[in-house]
Amino acid sequence: MAALEIRGTALHLAEADLLAVPVFGDEVRARRGAVAALDGPLGGHLRRAVAAESFAARAESTLLLHTLGRLGAARLLLVGMGPRRDGGALEALRAAAGVAARAAGKAGARTLAVAVPDGLGLAAAVRATGEGALLGAYRFDRYLTKRKPRVERVRLVVPRGAERGPGLREEARLAEVVAAATCWARDLVNEPPAACTPSALARAAGALARESGLRCQVRGPRQIAALGMGMFQGVTRGSAEEPRLVKVSWVPKGAGARRRPVVLVGKAITFDSGGLSLKPTESMVAMNTDMAGAAAVVGAMRVVAFLRPPFPVHAVFGACENMPGGRAYKPSDVLRAANGKTVQVTNTDAEGRLVLGDVLSWAARMRPAALVDVATLTGACVVALGQTTAAAMGADGPVVDGIVEAARRSGEDVWRLPLTASLREQLESPVADLKNTGERWGGAITAALFLREFTGDAPWAHLDIAGPSHTAKERGYWAKGGTGVPLRTLVEFVRGWKG
Ligand code: BES
Ligand code: MN
Ligand code: ZN
Repeated sequence: MAALEIRGTALHLAEADLLAVPVFGDEVRARRGAVAALDGPLGGHLRRAVAAESFAARAESTLLLHTLGRLGAARLLLVGMGPRRDGGALEALRAAAGVAARAAGKAGARTLAVAVPDGLGLAAAVRATGEGALLGAYRFDRYLTKRKPRVERVRLVVPRGAERGPGLREEARLAEVVAAATCWARDLVNEPPAACTPSALARAAGALARESGLRCQVRGPRQIAALGMGMFQGVTRGSAEEPRLVKVSWVPKGAGARRRPVVLVGKAITFDSGGLSLKPTESMVAMNTDMAGAAAVVGAMRVVAFLRPPFPVHAVFGACENMPGGRAYKPSDVLRAANGKTVQVTNTDAEGRLVLGDVLSWAARMRPAALVDVATLTGACVVALGQTTAAAMGADGPVVDGIVEAARRSGEDVWRLPLTASLREQLESPVADLKNTGERWGGAITAALFLREFTGDAPWAHLDIAGPSHTAKERGYWAKGGTGVPLRTLVEFVRGWKG
């Protein structure tokens, strides 16, 4: 990841291969703020270019100029943030900084300076600009034999003297930790399934725990059997890869260790072929990303280790593949869950809820104050909310409220769906306590209703991230591939949790 630094200097003196200036529509229309400040040193060239290109600062639009030695930076990039709106301004800034970093990368710039806009609170703007730029500079190029140069240094430009302002260093440091954790999660989501196997995912979690001073426990097939996780065992049976059950823990010293924990559960199917209910080819290609929930919850633990909250936080996942094969579980099999319930398998492609059910009932035994699961669970959720919004479900209360509020602060899109009681009957089976699929309509909700059967009395929220976990299109600070969603929401949730 690129290095992040804060520089207190006038914009026209900022040294860099490229200086990016995020601007709102009104600044460009009225030629105010940074546009006015840079137009003088550029001898009126900036105003003329803005007019000639009809640059109106629409969100994520750009205007690139060569500065011909008139500024400290070789090139100037104006990046639009759209109209100034209460509430969405920091996310518009993150997106603009992300666009700037991607443009800098494509232009071959090694050093990127980004002007931190005023009027949004300097510390908050430093954090948002830093996060956006570091995330926008990300790309997954490990398997390219011809790699393009990367942005190596991101310089956040604030007014001279302001660099020593209250909280600035801390916010920049937090931006770095959050971005590093997100890039870690993105890398795992982007890895091909032969590299990111269940045991490799467990090793990656162990390495993160070691580097962050966290505890990590890894369990194999015999211990999973001993825990009675018949649903987890059913899903993994068709695979040649061994399953892993992983727990990464932050436990504070002293009395805080005895407080009730926050427990985060991630879906960790390292490849979802659908099993015997095999997916069509096109739907299978992205199914290396079916462990994005686990990547996000474990990545969030890296930030938790940095934040050191006064209560325990655990991230847990059950990792396996969902494969067809001679030993695979079959439609019509009846599985026995760790909490004793029996489940008739009606579709082996509804595997995530089976593994999660067993891991959730195990997590519920940790007596969590808040239990949050994160899963690429249903295509139906993508139909409901689109590819950029995650669904939040759960009973009314502080956990769901905390998640929705945390998402708002983080800039990630989360929208609540109901746990419609009348849909529960779709999960009734003639041969077992439950079946693992309902009808087509309301599929995101019936999946959540299935999970609820395994949460005991824990205060619980479920996040379906099938849409925003990965993206085929670059946008804002998202590169193609894994996005890291909802890692930043989880971080804000833990920061806001009173325990
Ligand atoms: N991993 C998929 C869900 C998914 C779909 C994630 C698209 C990301 C993008 C999940 O295991 C699945 O296959 N769900 C089925 C459930 C159905 C069989 C009830 C689905 O959504 O089709
Ligand atoms: Mn599936
Ligand atoms: Zn799946």
